[in-house]
Amino acid sequence: MSRMGQGSQPLVKWTGGKRFLTTILTELLPEKRGRYFEPFCGGAAFFFALQPEKATLSDTNEELINAYKVVRDDPTELYAAAKKLRNGKETYYEVRKSSPSTDIERAVRFLYLCQLSFNGIYRVNLKGEFNVPYGYKTSVIPFREDHILRCSKILANAELLVSDFAEVTSQAVADDVVYFDPPYTVMHSNNGFVKYNAKLFSWEDQKRLAVEAQRLADLGAKVIVSNARHKSISDLYPKFDEVVVERHSVIAASGAKRGQIEESLFVSRKK
Ligand SMILES: C[S@@+](CC[C@H](N)C(=O)[O-])C[C@H]1O[C@@H](n2cnc3c(N)ncnc32)[C@H](O)[C@@H]1O
Repeated sequence: MSRMGQGSQPLVKWTGGKRFLTTILTELLPEKRGRYFEPFCGGAAFFFALQPEKATLSDTNEELINAYKVVRDDPTELYAAAKKLRNGKETYYEVRKSSPSTDIERAVRFLYLCQLSFNGIYRVNLKGEFNVPYGYKTSVIPFREDHILRCSKILANAELLVSDFAEVTSQAVADDVVYFDPPYTVMHSNNGFVKYNAKLFSWEDQKRLAVEAQRLADLGAKVIVSNARHKSISDLYPKFDEVVVERHSVIAASGAKRGQIEESLFVSRKK
């Protein structure tokens, strides 16, 4: 893995994105690093900042992984298909209504909606339909050719998979780096994260993740897990160091609930 690259903006702004953490995350990494795994990659903010030479990015969101593949493999075709789309309410709802069938058109639709939706949220209803309203971010330019080409270069050697986290990390070996950034759920709490993500990632999934994180740490991989700062979560990582970080939350829907919230990073110890 290369040393810290110059850092770059992610392809998309993703709910729960970790741009604010990239400096501290980098400081937690060892000098000697093998393959970089990000199994809940979302916007993959850390990957884009770090620009590792060998990486595996994965997520259960098929549209997201399709968009990364198209940006990696066909950036010029993507831009050609996307550049006609303007930022505006009417176009937004037209794109939202459409159901394109080619990979390139699907990536255009996904990236357009992610940039311009309310709070940059990607959310589908039970029928799998994207249902977030227009966000009125009128100054955003949905597609910039230079940005797409830059992201394409960074993604050039990345393996991209639609998968549950544990299937992917079964390939990791000693000295690999695994950064887990799951949806946040905690036990017995009514903070905003539970309401937002409970169906996507259950408490059983959190326990499954902690077991996998410990297995990887035991085999000598460097493992970092981001999660909510909550005793129920800390109890899942008794052999990891806990680093508490503060962030400004924009996840809660009402302005009153926004503010500084604490998160934890669980960092495996050197074997
Ligand atoms: C908090 S977001 C990751 C944010 C990301 N680190 C960033 O900087 O943008 C969590 C991601 O986990 C994905 N996800 C949910 N359940 C999953 C599972 N079982 N396995 C893999 N990915 C999953 C979601 O689709 C979502 O993209």
